[in-house]
Amino acid sequence: MMNEIERAAECLRAGKLVAFPTETVYGLGADALNAQAVAGIYAAKGRPADHPLIVHGADGDTLLRLARRVPAPAWVLIERFWPGPLTLVLSRAASVSDAVTGGQGTVALRVPDHPLALALLAEFGGPLVAPSANRFGRISPTTAEHVQEELGSAVDFILDGGPCQVGVESAIVDLSGDAPRLLRPGGVPREAIEALLGRSLAGPAQGGPRAPGALSAHYAPVTPLHLLTRAEIHTQVREAMAAGRKVAVLAPAAPDIIGPGCRWLEPPADPAAYARVLYAWLRALDRSGVSAILVQPPPRSPCWEAVRDRLTRAARGSKDIPMTASMTP
Ligand code: TXA
Ligand code: MG
Repeated sequence: MMNEIERAAECLRAGKLVAFPTETVYGLGADALNAQAVAGIYAAKGRPADHPLIVHGADGDTLLRLARRVPAPAWVLIERFWPGPLTLVLSRAASVSDAVTGGQGTVALRVPDHPLALALLAEFGGPLVAPSANRFGRISPTTAEHVQEELGSAVDFILDGGPCQVGVESAIVDLSGDAPRLLRPGGVPREAIEALLGRSLAGPAQGGPRAPGALSAHYAPVTPLHLLTRAEIHTQVREAMAAGRKVAVLAPAAPDIIGPGCRWLEPPADPAAYARVLYAWLRALDRSGVSAILVQPPPRSPCWEAVRDRLTRAARGSKDIPMTASMTP
């Protein structure tokens, strides 16, 4: 009898879409060399056709064939961080289709660090494109149930690996130009990459490649999410309670104002632990019937960069105008 991995690989060979767990978030996988299957991903996600996809492989050998050139810093990062939550953007080989790269001259590559993802990639035997398995602009899924809720029948097979351990997407480093750039903060902290390269990472280039994760509004709940100071949270909670509206609060320290209309959640004090629960919490709050999610952002220190980035984009992407001047990042 075929096991789950074999069945999933067979689906992929037939050009179907398979959601699978990675250490960061669940991906929606398709055969990177099958243009029709890749087109299916864009349709399932509702994603604009010119937004490029990350190609996943079981190892560096599979992936680096897709690059025209592998510069020295790439080897250093690969040696240390693959498999792991780091995506590298390199000049693409001629064999990589426009469907994958959104017509750009570069390709994004990653070896995920999850036993089921690696088993699937090995069984399939080739590269898979895998964006996060959510609808375009929405919160990435960190459990198989989230994928089911989010994509339903648009996905042909879901491999269930339980909750993702990292919880936010991979860091994306662009090594295709003169200076290394951090296009998206993520699972590997900026500091770890900079320490290894012995130089600081520039930000995304102005007018650079389109990267949905880099759009200012992304990873968004439907419920308005506001980034506020503690004092502003107090005011808003009181106002909401007086008006009979329910709100949720994500802020550290003991809940000091609480009542029937206020749900106070204290997020973990450690950045990795916060990242692990962030999307699941936003998803749960989105369905809880609250009128707003009020968040006290974590500190500005570098170890919080990925969590702050996702909260900021979630705020911009949610229905309302979310930021107060005092919290502009
Ligand atoms: O952790 C992750 O990276 C997850 C898991 C499933 O592996 N995947 C993921 O994929 O986050 P997606 O499609 O949701 O985000 C991919 C990001 C986008 O911001 C995309 O624009 C960027 O990678 N990207 C892909 N190819 C690129 C390229 N050639 N140049 C610049 N950015 C690129
Ligand atoms: Mg995504």
